Amino acid sequence: MLKAIYPGSFDPVTYGHLDMIGRSAKMVDELIVGVLNNKAKSPLFSVKERVRMLEEVTKDLPNVKVLPFEGLLVDFARETGADMVIRGLRAITDFEYELQMAQTNHKLDPSVETVFLTTNLKYSYLSSTIVKEVAAFGGDISQFVPAYISECVEEKIKQKRRV
Ligand code: PNS
Repeated sequence: MLKAIYPGSFDPVTYGHLDMIGRSAKMVDELIVGVLNNKAKSPLFSVKERVRMLEEVTKDLPNVKVLPFEGLLVDFARETGADMVIRGLRAITDFEYELQMAQTNHKLDPSVETVFLTTNLKYSYLSSTIVKEVAAFGGDISQFVPAYISECVEEKIKQKRRV
């Protein structure tokens, strides 16, 4: 049984991530979407919210499971018994960081292999940061994220403005 982790921050999940999830899920028996709870960062959504949002938009993919994780990715891979980590490469600008991360993970645990998929050209410009920026200035994000995520982002931005 082949098990992979697709890790990320997913703050929020975009169509680019969903394309990667759908394609990765076809390559393995089980795909774990690992949602990083990074206490050093202050994301727009809590890890619980990000997990729930991902569960909602991946509910039609039976071999996809969404789990939060903290700490090192290699430890999460060991805990879940994953055979590999899948990451997407959008453009050359992603390459340096991704290579550094894959090589660090391989040094920390040589049994953890990283597999790269090139992202769909349709989404090569897309990132969660861009989505948040557009939404923060009142722009339409419906072409970047599913309708449910768009509602969550708009609601969260309204909430933040109230406090
Ligand atoms: O969506 P992102 O923010 O690009 O995802 C980055 C992520 C979560 C894959 C990466 O930050 C990560 O694996 N963090 C866990 C900490 C870790 O293992 N660091 C060592 C590898 S550099």
